Amino acid sequence: MNKSSLFKELFVNIKTTGAVTFSSKSLVNKMLSFADFKGAKIIVELGGGDGSITRGIIDRMDRDATLFVFEISEHFCRNLDRQYGSKNVKIICDSAENMDRHLNGDKVDLILSSLPFSLIPKESRTAIYEKSSVMLKPSGFFIQICYSYLLRFQFASYFSNIKTAFTLKNFPPAFIIICNS
Ligand SMILES: C[S@@+](CC[C@H](N)C(=O)[O-])C[C@H]1O[C@@H](n2cnc3c(N)ncnc32)[C@H](O)[C@@H]1O
Repeated sequence: MNKSSLFKELFVNIKTTGAVTFSSKSLVNKMLSFADFKGAKIIVELGGGDGSITRGIIDRMDRDATLFVFEISEHFCRNLDRQYGSKNVKIICDSAENMDRHLNGDKVDLILSSLPFSLIPKESRTAIYEKSSVMLKPSGFFIQICYSYLLRFQFASYFSNIKTAFTLKNFPPAFIIICNS
């Protein structure tokens, strides 16, 4: 699948993708610099898209770790599966709000998200926040990239420790919200 078909999918579904372009390498590197991959065995990505974050996670994760990637676009899922699907990288074509159905009760070390929370209906958004906070290990981290600092206040209802970072090296410039309980 070529890059232009991925961009077409992004634009055509702007109401659910919430972006005009994919995350830059610089943003992905900065986001993932806040994650401790050493010893992390269960890792979840929310909103796989073109795989720009997926690639970065795979490059950093332990050999015996498992990555679950949730994505609602079938087009993106097919591409992700073709590129990265393996015993350790499970591409799940389902909404993040159903993550508990796919994880067999396993607790999660890291959740890395690029979901467009401001566009996700409140009921689904709440389910994603609640399930993420319950499924994360006490030592686990939820790391989100977004374009609005205000999203931090939604996370504050579910996580007690929150810090933020910012980068201009993305279009548009982006925030990174780093949360743990
Ligand atoms: C802003 S794009 C990010 C894509 C890519 N990870 C990046 O960083 O460039 C958000 C992605 O989340 C997906 N998405 C939106 N709502 C979702 C949901 N409820 N569950 C899973 N994926 C969702 C969209 O289809 C889209 O691919």
